[in-house]
Amino acid sequence: MSGQKSRGSWRSQIGFIFAASGSAIGLGNIVFFGSNAYRFGGGAFYLPYLTALFVIGIPLMIMEFGLGSITGRSFPEAMHRLAGKSGQFVGWWALLNAAFIAMYYVTILAWVTGMMIGSFGELFATSAFSLPAFGLSSEQLPSRAHAFFFDMLSSWQTVAFVFIVWGLNIYLVRRGAETIERAVRVFVPLMWAFMIVLIIRGVTLPNGFHGILKLFTPDFDGISNFQVWQGAFSQMFFSLTLGFGVMTTYASYLPKEADQINNSLMVSFMNCGFEFIAGLAIFSLLFVFSLTPTASTLSMTFFVVPAGIAQLPALVQAFGFLFFLLLLLAGLSSSISLVEGFVSALLDKFRMNRARAVLYVSGACILGSLACALPKVIDAGLNSNGTLGLTLVDLIDHWAFSYGLIIVGLAECILIGWVFGVSKLREAINAHSKFRLGVWFDWLIKLVIPILILLPLVSNGFAELSGLYGSSYQLGEWSWLPVSVFSVWIIGTLTLAAVFTFKGHYLQG
Ligand code: TRP
Repeated sequence: MSGQKSRGSWRSQIGFIFAASGSAIGLGNIVFFGSNAYRFGGGAFYLPYLTALFVIGIPLMIMEFGLGSITGRSFPEAMHRLAGKSGQFVGWWALLNAAFIAMYYVTILAWVTGMMIGSFGELFATSAFSLPAFGLSSEQLPSRAHAFFFDMLSSWQTVAFVFIVWGLNIYLVRRGAETIERAVRVFVPLMWAFMIVLIIRGVTLPNGFHGILKLFTPDFDGISNFQVWQGAFSQMFFSLTLGFGVMTTYASYLPKEADQINNSLMVSFMNCGFEFIAGLAIFSLLFVFSLTPTASTLSMTFFVVPAGIAQLPALVQAFGFLFFLLLLLAGLSSSISLVEGFVSALLDKFRMNRARAVLYVSGACILGSLACALPKVIDAGLNSNGTLGLTLVDLIDHWAFSYGLIIVGLAECILIGWVFGVSKLREAINAHSKFRLGVWFDWLIKLVIPILILLPLVSNGFAELSGLYGSSYQLGEWSWLPVSVFSVWIIGTLTLAAVFTFKGHYLQG
């Protein structure tokens, strides 16, 4: 088994758990969760959320992990072994879709880096501020964080930060599992430690505990809305890194006899536990300083939370720095997982040299990240579409996040459930696990999950037809952008997935 060795392997079980939970815990848990929960009905979000966790998330993670340890291959090849060419196509499509997400994800991390550096500079300073690029004076700006953030966005600095963050990614995956394991052994414990510091700060503020009630007060109007369900499912896929083709690759570096049910439970609970305490920290902070959470995930990250931190009684700069450093570490341990997932798939199929594969993947993604960092102001209003980059982020996010991930999940269930026969996979997983999956698992994969995903997908897909997402933006001369982003995404990912599938062939299977 020389192939197995050269693919790389984790040095320890805990190394794998750190890597997988590092992939899972990211921007999704720290800020997207809070704003999605708020947007989709506060406490009422928990019903769709817990359904998404127990009925979809954990079973799919068992499946994606099982697929990796049983085949010992990355996602496209693993899917190929189970379901032939169509499986392989879905595998590549998942990775390409994830690459689209990685493009803007890294741009967000580049902005995070700028905010982190700014924490000890202008971000929390008390001097006067304005925003000349947008023609706005301080009275027209809701907060100093707004001024700092949009000022950064309308300069070329972020382009440099994009290169820095991609440079870190390349450095951390240069020798695959080996270097990733070394990084996550430091990053993941630090992330927990920083989060605990922030939550202690949040809940010990006078009245801090009341903010938490806000996160739990249910607004039941949302429950009957399909958008809320799709929102919860997408959030769960994103947060658990499912439908990215990543978990299968990470699991393929484990010995075949790994207990994948146990692993899935550990990683999912760590992920959701982290998300939960992040919600406590953020909502207590917002409540105390009477800030309203916003439905826009980016506004939460870059204005609302910093505006809260700015009002802390002491150590403002240190807490600001800590918050953004936490985001950066959590984000890096996620983005490296996508790079590794893609690189590993290229190595399995095209047998190229690792350094070259890393450069291809990151090179292509850097171009996308740079596009999302373009400083051009296209709408002087301080909306999410204030600059070209922000508009791109929003549009790509809409397609790849809200549709891409769950479509991959659906395709996985259908191919493995019906084409391969999920009972075979279930038996292979059971053979190495203390806990045994019953026949219920087969029906979950074959029927329940596909129906749960399809209902909101179809209903929202139809609503989408009545006006392509983003067409209601005030884009002026940029009004062609929404349609173009949609076309590039759909045509680009489908064509490339076909190219990867039909070019070259696997040695066996
Ligand atoms: N799970 C991550 C989060 O919650 C998201 C993520 C994982 C991701 N891997 C990725 C995003 C790769 C982009 C690229 O934030």
